[in-house]
Amino acid sequence: MIGIPLQIGSVKLASNMMLAPMAGYCDLAWRLTCRSYGGVGLACTDLLSPHGLLRGTQQSLDLAATNDQDKPVGMQLYGSDPKLMAEGALWAADHGATLVDINMGCPVDKVVKKDGGSKLMCDIGQAVGIAEAVRKALPESIPLTTKMRIGWDEQAVGESCASVLACKLIDVGAAAITVHGRTTEMRFKGQCRHDEIKNVVDAVREHTGGTIPVIGNGDVNSAQDAVSMIETTGCAGVMIGRGSLARPWIFRDSWDLQTKGETLDQPSNEEIAEMIRGYFTMMCEFRKEAYALHKIRSRISWFVKAMNTRKVSCKPLNTAIRTAPDAESVHRVLDEFLAGGHRLLPRSQHEARAESA
Ligand SMILES: Cc1cc2nc3c(=O)[nH]c(=O)nc-3n(C[C@H](O)[C@H](O)[C@H](O)COP(=O)(O)O)c2cc1C
Repeated sequence: MIGIPLQIGSVKLASNMMLAPMAGYCDLAWRLTCRSYGGVGLACTDLLSPHGLLRGTQQSLDLAATNDQDKPVGMQLYGSDPKLMAEGALWAADHGATLVDINMGCPVDKVVKKDGGSKLMCDIGQAVGIAEAVRKALPESIPLTTKMRIGWDEQAVGESCASVLACKLIDVGAAAITVHGRTTEMRFKGQCRHDEIKNVVDAVREHTGGTIPVIGNGDVNSAQDAVSMIETTGCAGVMIGRGSLARPWIFRDSWDLQTKGETLDQPSNEEIAEMIRGYFTMMCEFRKEAYALHKIRSRISWFVKAMNTRKVSCKPLNTAIRTAPDAESVHRVLDEFLAGGHRLLPRSQHEARAESA
């Protein structure tokens, strides 16, 4: 499976690497930023409320926004009402979704209390009923996928809940299954369980003869991690969430490592500054300036983490962006950075000694 592009239903992807849905992070601007480096086979929206989409609430429409460059794109729906989910899926198909994904992994109270997200793993009949209704509503050309965890808790893992559910979802038309290697109870803590992802891969392979891909997800923070995920689980594709937040080029690197055996050097700090500018500019274009400012202030420390080296600290850039009052100031700070400002160069020992003498 190393270096083989994925096919999901009738949709052929350019690679086997995917950007995970991450509520609050994976808006159109971020998906395009990741895509700009290459290697992204598929990107997914944050989880979407079918109710919000159908009522046309601005928040839902903003989250579902896509464009011609943002393809192929998965739109992810959450909920527990088969009819509403089917109507939401049809809305997604009519508004640019390449495929529709059902969220069966979200552990957040707001979602789980309404029997959506990972609560669906506790009621396989309900989960399968939703998938069946969604599949029936969608045009044949739009694949249905689902994203789940390895089970609600350890007992569910012992009962191979994810494998059982995955096979039943495939029986009603799911074209790919993504598995995050944690239980709901683990939330995002503890180690991602490659052995349990492998169990789902093996069960699905046995059930389908290898026609339906399983995508592994969890704790992939480097190109080497992506290769290890494929090697240890046998999964056909890898989905990356948090590992892309500071390094949107991780998909390119992961694909390069698989197909060329090596990766490019990390972008220079100047190139990263231009990436930040591009991301910020798109947020201003697609959303309001206040949104873009709020987001860039909360994201800048991630980017700066990738910029800091033993030779240079970009902490001042972090501070300057976080305190920039408007879009113009953000651009000015980036210009100043590109001109050599907003960074700390450690003094050489020689300079320090000369000063103290
Ligand atoms: C802030 C945040 C928001 C998330 N939102 C979603 C979501 O909307 N839908 C979903 O299926 N998973 C969501 N996830 C889970 C991720 O898609 C992914 O399964 C998880 O983070 C593990 O992968 P990673 O280690 O590569 O981040 C979210 C995770 C985080 C950290």
